[in-house]
Amino acid sequence: MTAHDPTPETWRAVDRYFADTLVGPDPDLEAAVEAQRAAGMPDIEVAPVNGKLLHLLARMSGARRVLEIGTLGGYSTIWLARAVPEDGRVVTIEAEPDNAAVARASIDRAGVGGRVDIRIGRGEHVLPTLAGEEPFDLVFIDADKESNALYLDWAARLGRVGTVVVVDNVGRGGAVADAGTTSSQVIGTRKGLALLGEDPRFEATALQTLDAKGWDGVAIALVVRPGEA
Ligand SMILES: C[S@@+](CC[C@H](N)C(=O)[O-])C[C@H]1O[C@@H](n2cnc3c(N)ncnc32)[C@H](O)[C@@H]1O
Repeated sequence: MTAHDPTPETWRAVDRYFADTLVGPDPDLEAAVEAQRAAGMPDIEVAPVNGKLLHLLARMSGARRVLEIGTLGGYSTIWLARAVPEDGRVVTIEAEPDNAAVARASIDRAGVGGRVDIRIGRGEHVLPTLAGEEPFDLVFIDADKESNALYLDWAARLGRVGTVVVVDNVGRGGAVADAGTTSSQVIGTRKGLALLGEDPRFEATALQTLDAKGWDGVAIALVVRPGEA
């Protein structure tokens, strides 16, 4: 095969190959996706290869306490909860009570319910209530993109030096490179990335992704200076 620009057919085939080879079938995760579809939720959970990336980042960093902003039906939450030890904790924040109920059932069915604490409410209201708790070792930001900079600020405050921070959907089908965008989601994404580039509390990079969810990207950051809770 010669090198060429990816077409949807080729990159979807590569994603399927990676997922089949490295992720494989997973009845609990598949049931979680089915439950959220049945409840009419949008198809916006992370792709399987991305869920496994979160899982591996949590394990590689030895995370015991994980914070997620944006639960949806619990798909990424299950991946994260499987990565923490028995006495670990995933705190996940979800604004929609109906989504949280579906997530609760799927997370419990997957056998990791004892490690997952779902906080219902908007991130901006729930995050301040977590101040004073033991610091989080990994933070996954995947909610309203307009609030990414706010969530990153809280990630530094609620983390510690060494906390891993992951921000999903930072490529947005290429729209993130458009400085003149009028999309509030893209503007929010750009503000979050600007913060990661400028704020001395973080060292960060971002990778484009082509997976089951299309062309997007993920930012990965490390907290390198303490934030104030
Ligand atoms: C992209 S989905 C999360 C997907 C999930 N992380 C996964 O990969 O399986 C975004 C979720 O964030 C929730 N959300 C939107 N705005 C929010 C806010 N201000 N605070 C908390 N959750 C919010 C939405 O209701 C939705 O369930």
